[in-house]
Amino acid sequence: MTWRPVDLDPVALVMVGKPARGKTYTARRLARYTNWLGYRSRVFNVGTYRRERLGAGQPASFFSPDNREGRAAREAMAEAAVDDLLAWLVADGEIAVLDATNSTRRRRAWIRGRCEAAGVQPVFVEVVCERPEVIARNVREVKVDSPDYVGRSKDHAIEDFFARIREYDRVYETLDPTHDADVSYVRLIDMGERIELNRIEGFLPGQLVVFLMHLHDLQRPVYLTRHGESLFNVENRIGGDPDLSPAGQAYAANLRSWVAEHLPTTQPLTVWTSTLRRTAQTAQGLGRATRAWKLLDEIDAGDCDGWTYGEVAERMPADFHARKADKFRYRYPRGESYQDLIARLEPVVLELERQQEPVLVIAHQAVLRALVCYLVGSPPERSPYVEVPLHTVLRITPGPYGSEVVHLPLGPVPAHPAAP
Ligand code: SIN
Repeated sequence: MTWRPVDLDPVALVMVGKPARGKTYTARRLARYTNWLGYRSRVFNVGTYRRERLGAGQPASFFSPDNREGRAAREAMAEAAVDDLLAWLVADGEIAVLDATNSTRRRRAWIRGRCEAAGVQPVFVEVVCERPEVIARNVREVKVDSPDYVGRSKDHAIEDFFARIREYDRVYETLDPTHDADVSYVRLIDMGERIELNRIEGFLPGQLVVFLMHLHDLQRPVYLTRHGESLFNVENRIGGDPDLSPAGQAYAANLRSWVAEHLPTTQPLTVWTSTLRRTAQTAQGLGRATRAWKLLDEIDAGDCDGWTYGEVAERMPADFHARKADKFRYRYPRGESYQDLIARLEPVVLELERQQEPVLVIAHQAVLRALVCYLVGSPPERSPYVEVPLHTVLRITPGPYGSEVVHLPLGPVPAHPAAP
C-alpha cells in the first residue's frame, strides 16, 4: 500500500528519442523519483517486450523501415506494451512511463489517441542529443552490455548498434511547435542544458519538469554518513541537539583522515550537514566548503524529543505500539513521521541530482535512510528498516542498471541496542 501526495488523473510519460540518447536512464529516474514521493509508478520498456516475445539479438536490419516484417513485429510490441500500460494505469497506477523510441508522428498520434480514450493524460518526454562523443559513450558504456548482445563481441555490439541508430535516423521526426502545437511535451536537450516545454499543465507534470531540470548523466558517487556517536546515542535517547561523545570525536578524526586520503583537495567535493551540533562537529576540520541544511535535521520526535524508547513505552504505550505497527506512517506527537520526512527531503534530492561533483552528506539515521531509499530505488515504506550504522561511510554510485552501495566502516562501530 502506498499513499497519495495529491489526487491526480493517471499520467503516461511517453519517452521519445533516437537510440543511445539516455531515454531508459531518464525513464528509470522519473519512476524512481515518483515512487519515492509515494506515487505508484512503473516503466514499460518496449525493448523488453521484443526480447521476451522474439528473443534477444535482433540485428540492426530488424529495425530498418524497409523491413516490412520487422516493422509489423515492432508495431505489435508497441501495442502490447501500450495495452499493458493502460490496463495497469487505469486499474492500479498513477504514473506509467513508456520507454521506447516513439520516433514518428504517426506512432505518437496513435499513443496519444489510446491514452486519451482511456482517460490518461499523455506527456511526451523527448531526449535529444546530437553530440557524437556522448552518443559514442552511451553505446560503448551502456549498449554493449544490453541483453541484445549477450555472447557477442564488444566490436560487433558497437558496429550493430550504430547501424541500428542509422536505421532510426532515416525516419525520426522530432517534436516541434509547428506539428505538435497541441501536444503536451518536454524536450530535454543535451541532458538538461536546454529544456523546451509545450502545454505542460497541472501539478504533477510541472513537478516532473522541475525534476528533469535537475537531471544530468554524469555518474558520480554520493557519500553518506551519520554524525559520530553523540552523548544521546550513548544513553539511547532520541532527538535533541547533543554534542559528540569521545568515541564520536574519534570518528570525526577518522573521517578527516579518510577524506584526506580518498577525496583529496585536488578533487572536488561538496559537504552537506544538518544544522545540529553533532553533524557540524563531525564535519569540523574537513577543510571543504560545508553547507548546513535545516532540511537535513533528524526526524522531529516532537513530544518524545530527548526520551529513551523505554520512556516512550512507559509514558505513551499507545504511541509506542502504533509506531511499532507502522513505523513508516507513525508520526510522533507534534513531530514527524518517515513519510513526512520524505516530503521534507524532496528539495535535497533535487539538489543532489543537480550536483555534478561528489557530495558527502553528514546527517542522521532517519534522514539517511530516506535518502538511501531514493538513491537505490527502494520503496519508501522500507526506509525505517534501512541499515545505516554509526561510524560508517556509505558510498553509493549510480550506474545505468542500478546503484552500487558500499559500506566503509571507519574504526570501531559502536554497539547500541536497535530502536524497537
Ligand atoms: C526495441 O525494440 O528495442 C524498441 C523499439 C522502439 O522503441 O523503437
